[in-house]
Amino acid sequence: MLIYELKNGMKLSIRRATESDTEELINMEAQIGGESDNLTFGRDDFYLTEDQEREFIRNTSSKENCIFIVGLIDDRIIGSLTFIASPRKRMMHRGELGIAVLKQFWGIGVGNFLMDYLFKWINSNGIIKKVDLSVREDNINAINLYIKWGFKIEGRISKGLYINGKYYDLYNMGKIIG
Ligand SMILES: CC(C)(COP(=O)(O)OP(=O)(O)OC[C@H]1O[C@@H](n2cnc3c(N)ncnc32)[C@H](O)[C@@H]1OP(=O)(O)O)[C@@H](O)C(=O)NCCC(=O)NCCS
Repeated sequence: MLIYELKNGMKLSIRRATESDTEELINMEAQIGGESDNLTFGRDDFYLTEDQEREFIRNTSSKENCIFIVGLIDDRIIGSLTFIASPRKRMMHRGELGIAVLKQFWGIGVGNFLMDYLFKWINSNGIIKKVDLSVREDNINAINLYIKWGFKIEGRISKGLYINGKYYDLYNMGKIIG
């Protein structure tokens, strides 16, 4: 577990997700889905059951090229980051990043420290050579965060998301390691 000091002086703990986080994670993901239109799911749209979420955490923890981390303030999970890579030899060096923080805690450094933890893990892990992600083209907060961490725009997915009757394009962004 790593402890960071946030811009508002609060302490943020970051550690790997465990199966005992399952219920709290499902609730947090449902809340974030309702708070942000920048994700692939909305409030009533987060489709993992408790068993599936537990299985996802178990699978991620057992793979050396995947990681699922949670950020906690006062023992409450307020953000998470996943990095999921393929078990196939030809693709195991690259994976997809996903990150989300509860709205009430935006702008105080949580996203930044989740990325810090991820890249510390990547640097000590040795397998990962590329991080990919896709982001809504108008999600300025996230795009700024990714640019700050060295990601570059590599492409564009037209009509990548359909939200409340409107289509949105996505950017593919990527960062090469080492
Ligand atoms: C994107 C998200 C993860 C950022 O997390 P956060 O904890 O608010 O980010 P931080 O406070 O650590 O800020 C880190 C960087 O992000 C960018 N950023 C964050 N908020 C910003 C804002 N309001 N305006 C512009 N840039 C912003 C900046 O580059 C910032 O670096 P700085 O502090 O040096 O200026 C968060 O807004 C979120 O969860 N959004 C909803 C879900 C989502 O969009 N996920 C990404 C899907 S691709």
